[in-house]
Amino acid sequence: MERILADVASTDLDAMERPNLARATNYLVGGGANFAADRAAINALLAMDPAVGTRFRASRAFVGRAVRTALDRGVDQFLELGSGIPSPGGLHRLVGPAGARVVYVDVDPVAVAHTCELLADQKEVSRTAAVRADLREADRVLDEARETGLLDLDRPVAIVCNAVLQWVADSDADDLAASLERYRAALPPGSLLVLSVPHPDLLDGTEIVEVPPVIESTMAPLRLRSRAELTRILGRWDVLPPGVVDVVDWPLASGTEPAGIYAALAATHR
Ligand SMILES: C[S@@+](CC[C@H](N)C(=O)[O-])C[C@H]1O[C@@H](n2cnc3c(N)ncnc32)[C@H](O)[C@@H]1O
Repeated sequence: MERILADVASTDLDAMERPNLARATNYLVGGGANFAADRAAINALLAMDPAVGTRFRASRAFVGRAVRTALDRGVDQFLELGSGIPSPGGLHRLVGPAGARVVYVDVDPVAVAHTCELLADQKEVSRTAAVRADLREADRVLDEARETGLLDLDRPVAIVCNAVLQWVADSDADDLAASLERYRAALPPGSLLVLSVPHPDLLDGTEIVEVPPVIESTMAPLRLRSRAELTRILGRWDVLPPGVVDVVDWPLASGTEPAGIYAALAATHR
């Protein structure tokens, strides 16, 4: 943890005048690690799509259900990719009571530094770590996760990737597929992938949209993934029933309004 804080010490954590995706998301879910520019960005987004908070919470609720499934299957190690700043109901809080360990991974030093700060005074700190890495560099992510001493990669691990793939800059479905395949091949049987990503139906079939100007300066272009792309991205991962569905319908059809976000729970091996 100290090493990570030193790593990011040179980062201008208090660049308050520019919105930051991780801090803005933190504001969206009611966290306290955000500044006026982040709140303005989210308010602009809410003006465009008033349901964005509801959608995001539906996605995190899916993660909660999928993670409980992982715990029920005996998985007690979690690797969250593109973790941002853990929200009040963050992963370490969900799985901590079960004694599980969590390694958070984000490419953004601001997200990692806030995560370290937030964890420092929480009781789960001895079972939780944060690593700065690009999720596409699977081998590096796995090495760094191993180095934390928290994850034993010879035992099943659950990867959690919630609302992230639409923000990965300069990547197409094939890049993401190659990365996820690397994780799949490296992890032992019994490992899982909890994945959510907004789908284009959210925007009447538009696959790529620009985020509002107020936030586009710091956020990568939003890239929604169609079902066909998502199927390509999941590649050889074995998608468990009920398959790829809207987050509100995982694992059972809820009869409520779709959130516009695909959910999948997949396993490394058939
Ligand atoms: C919308 S936030 C999602 C936060 C979190 N998953 C959650 O559910 O609250 C997206 C996060 O993905 C991170 N991200 C984007 N591209 C990434 C990459 N290539 N590798 C790792 N993290 C990435 C961003 O920095 C940001 O913190």
